[in-house]
Amino acid sequence: MNQNRATHLISGAFVVSAVASVSLAVVYAVGGTAWLEGTLLGIALAGIGVGLILWAKEYLPIGEEVQQRDSLEPEPSEEEEAEDALEEGIHAIGRRSLLVKLGAMAAGALGVAALFPIRSLGGRPGTELITTPWYDGVRVVDEDGQPIAADRVEVGQVLTVFPEGAVGSGDAVALVIGLPDGVNQPLPGREDWSVGGLVSYSKLCTHVGCPVGLYEPTSQQLFCPCHQSVFDVPAGANPVGGPAARPLPQLPIDVDDAGYLIATGGFSGAPGAGFWWRPDDD
Ligand code: FES
Repeated sequence: MNQNRATHLISGAFVVSAVASVSLAVVYAVGGTAWLEGTLLGIALAGIGVGLILWAKEYLPIGEEVQQRDSLEPEPSEEEEAEDALEEGIHAIGRRSLLVKLGAMAAGALGVAALFPIRSLGGRPGTELITTPWYDGVRVVDEDGQPIAADRVEVGQVLTVFPEGAVGSGDAVALVIGLPDGVNQPLPGREDWSVGGLVSYSKLCTHVGCPVGLYEPTSQQLFCPCHQSVFDVPAGANPVGGPAARPLPQLPIDVDDAGYLIATGGFSGAPGAGFWWRPDDD
């Protein structure tokens, strides 16, 4: 391929890539669409790729080159050839400088465009990951928002519950489980966290947060249907099988003067899956 033509093609590929990268950043910033962003990203990457391939093909030496060693005395025609070659070399250096700059521009534009998606990570979560709507004195209600009388949950029964005023809250969802008398083995410091045989734990699996909805009353174990983690309810909902490594956070409960279940505080730890700065408190 003629070298001028190759230079134009490589330059064009780098310029197209840079334009696509800038367009990608703009489209992203104004809240564009995934297919358009994907297309622009593809063009930006393809432009750099095509430019580099053509560059390698046209300007980089391929294989070995052998030059015959002739007389050291140059012929007049050889002197002319040398001058032409020198001139061509100077042009080549000029081309290389141009292509290096355009290549850097394309790569830089793509790098800047790639920084924009960092915005998608959102703001810092603050304490949202470790706080829930549970607090001391809030009533425990069912999925219809109805308060739960302490004698409503029978032995072997499990009920999905929320704090009053926050029905449907994803991180507050909990289970109230009826254990047979004398089975519960409260952890030290949690002796008064249960009411009779009733205990309450977060319904979110500590593996990756699936709802732990399957209760086996004979073994008093909770099963997570996602990856088969098993939690031993009487033993502080400690994991005894599957990939979950932490117990389900416990919710301290009591009964108010009207005979309804209330929480006496929040969960013993952050509910759900682990995260990068999860406190080691459960
Ligand atoms: S989410 Fe429960 S075992 Fe994976």
